[in-house]
Amino acid sequence: MSCFKAHLFICTKCQYKDSDTALCPEDTAKKFRKSVKDLARINFQKDQVRINASGCLDRCEEGISAVLYPSAEWFKDLRPGDEEALINSIAKTLSSPEK
Ligand code: FES
Repeated sequence: MSCFKAHLFICTKCQYKDSDTALCPEDTAKKFRKSVKDLARINFQKDQVRINASGCLDRCEEGISAVLYPSAEWFKDLRPGDEEALINSIAKTLSSPEK
């Protein structure tokens, strides 16, 4: 069994901020993760990347947060529409030489 080359952890507890006073529904981060996962399935082989649901990443004030390993790249204030940017970061991580 091969190991994944990249892991993206998306906090599914986060709620992104529409304004200073409003938060999106609690399932927004879960739906966002699912759409990233669906896009990853199209763009990468199954054993290349894993899109994990994560609990709190201790960056709650930054909206929907995620971290990509092994590059240790952090993402904040993610919103529907940012999926492609994450896919591009994953592709960049996969194409980087192993350390
Ligand atoms: S709840 Fe998502 S980073 Fe804390």
